[in-house]
Amino acid sequence: MKFFADTAEIDDIKELAATGLLDGVTTNPSLIAKSGRDFMEVTKEICGLTDGPVSAEVVALDHATMMKEAEVLRKIADNVCIKVPLTIDGLQTCKALSEDGTMVNVTLCFSANQALLAAKAGATFISPFVGRHDDNGSNGMDLIRDIRTIYDNYLFDTEILVASVRHSTHVLESALIGADVMTAPPAVIKGLFKHILTDKGIEGFMADWEKTGQSIV
Ligand code: G3P
Repeated sequence: MKFFADTAEIDDIKELAATGLLDGVTTNPSLIAKSGRDFMEVTKEICGLTDGPVSAEVVALDHATMMKEAEVLRKIADNVCIKVPLTIDGLQTCKALSEDGTMVNVTLCFSANQALLAAKAGATFISPFVGRHDDNGSNGMDLIRDIRTIYDNYLFDTEILVASVRHSTHVLESALIGADVMTAPPAVIKGLFKHILTDKGIEGFMADWEKTGQSIV
């Protein structure tokens, strides 16, 4: 499963990229606003920090303007992936862009039928929002299971990009279901490295090694 960072914070992206485990980045208008940076400028900077896809979202609601915005965004770098909302205009834009060889991430997916439509529109990625689904009283991971089944039934190439990930159990379940990608805030990704028994084990080994009086280098 690929790991994308769901952020527009440059320092966090640099830190994760240095681990060698970062496969891409996703942004959205809320994350850009939170960063306080210029959209074009920060997106260009992010594209230089990873070879993987960097999702940049259109803000128009109609197809014609979405296409104009996508034209501007895809010139930022070769690894820009155009993010469009799951609406009729968004999927029309998705179809046009994907037929033209541009990567497209269809966002704000909350049902398996919506995911089916996005795959038929040629989406590179579908972004089902599991956390917001949970917030709304449903089980977000059931949605991922259903989409996996549908995509496998018809051998769709569209990758399931689990979004609105809030905690490590979302990551674990995504991997168990066989999602292709998950995007999470940097804090959630960093939390995956941690286990109390790892810390305690290191402490014990270090104390015993000290007693030997030896050194490796
Ligand atoms: O990738 C989508 C994500 O940014 C939304 O997350 O936590 O605002 O539901 P959240």
